[in-house]
Amino acid sequence: MWTTRGVALLIGLLVVNLVVGINSDDSTRLVKKVKGVKVCIKDWECNRWSKFCCNQTISENFQVYQFENLFSKRNSPVAHAVGFWDYQSFIIASAIYQPLGFGTTGGKLMQMKEVAAFLAHVGAKTSCGYGVATGGPLAWGLCYNKEMSPSQSYCDDSYKFEFPCTPGAQYYGRGAIPIYWNFNYGAVGKALDVDLLNHPEYIEQNATLAFMAAMWRWMTPIKKLQPSAHEVFVGGWKPTKNDTLAKRVPGFGATMNILYGEMTCGQGDIDPMNTIISHYLYYLDLMGVGREEAGPNEVLSCAEQGAFNPATVAPATSSS
Ligand SMILES: *[C@@H]1O[C@H](CO)[C@@H](O)[C@H](O)[C@H]1NC(C)=O
Ligand SMILES: *[C@@H]1O[C@H](CO)[C@@H](O)[C@H](O)[C@H]1NC(C)=O
Ligand SMILES: *[C@@H]1O[C@H](CO)[C@@H](O)[C@H](O)[C@H]1NC(C)=O
Repeated sequence: MWTTRGVALLIGLLVVNLVVGINSDDSTRLVKKVKGVKVCIKDWECNRWSKFCCNQTISENFQVYQFENLFSKRNSPVAHAVGFWDYQSFIIASAIYQPLGFGTTGGKLMQMKEVAAFLAHVGAKTSCGYGVATGGPLAWGLCYNKEMSPSQSYCDDSYKFEFPCTPGAQYYGRGAIPIYWNFNYGAVGKALDVDLLNHPEYIEQNATLAFMAAMWRWMTPIKKLQPSAHEVFVGGWKPTKNDTLAKRVPGFGATMNILYGEMTCGQGDIDPMNTIISHYLYYLDLMGVGREEAGPNEVLSCAEQGAFNPATVAPATSSS
């Protein structure tokens, strides 16, 4: 005979199984082997055959409450992009890049660290948490989605053949890792197959597109034969002799070097660099990874690194 307790237990197990069933790997992850390599597809979030899709996806590791914790002030009345940014846009945008290893490389620790590192750039570049803002300065990431008082329209005529400026279009800073200048809008637009040269405003109207553009920048080398921020972070990059001479080592510091060059790196312990590092450490703590996983100062900082992309070449992003 069934006891009441037995029935309660059985129902409990059924409920647990149902819940697990929905999120479980094996219900939605397809697996096959190509030339001895295991590749997978995980529903819409990682939907091209890839070895990376065999690992946990970002939404399996990083959930909506964590996103809300990281960006807790973004919808406060004094923020400048209320209602714009959300978790959903972040995950949908990442679906293009997860099969390429974004947030899906290495084990869970590396995956969480990469999400924290990417979002640290985003948080630092879109923060309005100056000085004594409530909740502390690090709680104000995703406060902006565009430059508020642009001083110019950022049209560089030397790119008139490849990326001509559209009359009237303004190429001021927009997005999650802000894009400036016609040539950068042109390059991102080409990569994402969206006409950003004619419509740079799409970036401030569509959070998914804004996150996609930032992820493209993270995943793509700025120049041929260079690593991407992703590669230097997850350990796929081996420094050359020149890199070693310039003190460029794999890690978080090198991601700042690739994205901002000498505006942030090789200048000693300056604020623009320290702000980005502080966001990274703060996010690691909030995500339950812990800042002690960030590693020693020489990988975390780029204070002593020579720039990957010195100013003689136009940098891909520039601060306002
Ligand atoms: C998937 O995760 C495992 C650890 O869980 C790791 O060893 C492996 O390298 C990861 N796969 C890829 C393609 O990064
Ligand atoms: C936002 O941009 C994405 C990527 O280009 C696109 O798929 C989506 O339809 C856009 N959303 C809106 C509301 O236009
Ligand atoms: C290494 O640096 C030197 C001096 O800056 C430069 O001339 C050379 O092209 C670099 N080599 C590589 C492979 O980048």
